[in-house]
Amino acid sequence: MLLAILIYITGAFGSTTTRCKESERHALLKIKENLRGHGDGFLTSWGNEEEKRECCEWIGIRCDNKSGHVIRLDLSPSTLGRGLFDPFEGNLSYSLVDLQYLHYLDLSFIQFYENSITSFIGSLSKLRYLNLSYTNMTGDDLPQLGNLSSLQFLDLCYNDNLEIKNMEWASHLSSLQLLDLSYTNMSFAYDWENVVNNLPHLKYLKLIYCDLPDIVLPSLSVVNSSKVLAIIDLSYNYDLSSSIFQGFSTIAIVLFILTSLIAY
Ligand SMILES: *[C@@H]1O[C@H](CO)[C@@H](O)[C@H](O)[C@H]1NC(C)=O
Ligand SMILES: *[C@@H]1O[C@H](CO)[C@@H](O)[C@H](O)[C@H]1NC(C)=O
Ligand SMILES: *[C@@H]1O[C@H](CO)[C@@H](O)[C@H](O)[C@H]1NC(C)=O
Ligand SMILES: *[C@@H]1O[C@H](CO)[C@@H](O)[C@H](O)[C@H]1NC(C)=O
Ligand SMILES: *[C@@H]1O[C@H](CO)[C@@H](O)[C@H](O)[C@H]1NC(C)=O
Ligand SMILES: *[C@@H]1O[C@H](CO)[C@@H](O)[C@H](O)[C@H]1NC(C)=O
Ligand SMILES: *[C@@H]1O[C@H](CO)[C@@H](O)[C@H](O)[C@H]1NC(C)=O
Repeated sequence: MLLAILIYITGAFGSTTTRCKESERHALLKIKENLRGHGDGFLTSWGNEEEKRECCEWIGIRCDNKSGHVIRLDLSPSTLGRGLFDPFEGNLSYSLVDLQYLHYLDLSFIQFYENSITSFIGSLSKLRYLNLSYTNMTGDDLPQLGNLSSLQFLDLCYNDNLEIKNMEWASHLSSLQLLDLSYTNMSFAYDWENVVNNLPHLKYLKLIYCDLPDIVLPSLSVVNSSKVLAIIDLSYNYDLSSSIFQGFSTIAIVLFILTSLIAY
């Protein structure tokens, strides 16, 4: 009986302790402050009020069960239940760097104002998933993404003004399984094939409509890959010639041909 009461009491206390870290809650509120959404549904669960103290229960947030640190920030349309092209825009607050335990960051379909995006994401060293597709990202400030050595999924597609001048940064992402750079500008990324070919865990590669440079470099013949890419989609890259076939394994070539046929 006494034991039951004790369990009841500790249970009750347990449920009133807030897991959310004060500094991380503060950072999340700063992130919200810098964004604008329209309509009633704009991050209403996020707030300063006493009853909203537990940021681990805010929509789009997940905390680590043990430490209470925020490990997931997902503001994607599907998670928030907003329409794909509902206006959702603003600046990315520098406070994001206070969320050092993030594993998962999805800011897809937020229209960020000028160049506000990549400059400090490289410091979130625990990231495994980063989705910045459709975020109006501009410039060529990607090298610091090379610091994200745990990254497994990277989606930067549909940022037409993003110029990826070389892929050296990606060669440091040795855990990468999925890479989608479709609809970015890679017209000067001559090293792309060499880099992706040397990523040991890469399975999904999408470089649709990237204006890829044709690769007819003699160095290609020394590319030696025993890795099998499961899916590779290079459609709508009009300058590419069949010379890239040398570098990839058979399955990749088959898929390349398939996607080329679909494309033309
Ligand atoms: C974004 O930053 C600019 C310049 O710092 C500022 O003028 C603007 O009000 C900010 N927008 C939002 C939604 O916070
Ligand atoms: C963390 O807690 C959630 C909800 O209580 C539960 O669904 C999940 O399985 C837990 N995860 C771990 C790793 O214990
Ligand atoms: C990134 O986000 C978009 C839109 O939310 C989604 O369609 C896409 O599948 C995501 N990418 C990955 C790799 O999960
Ligand atoms: C997209 O970025 C450009 C600058 O590159 C900026 O002028 C424009 O306002 C941004 N669009 C939106 C919807 O924020
Ligand atoms: C990336 O890593 C280098 C070396 O470890 C460090 O000097 C640099 O500050 C890091 N960049 C970011 C954006 O964290
Ligand atoms: C891609 O970027 C280069 C400069 O790096 C520029 O000359 C070219 O016009 C851009 N292509 C497109 C389709 O915007
Ligand atoms: C390719 O790599 C394999 C195993 O790593 C090695 O045995 C082989 O000699 C290499 N071939 C060339 C042409 O470098």
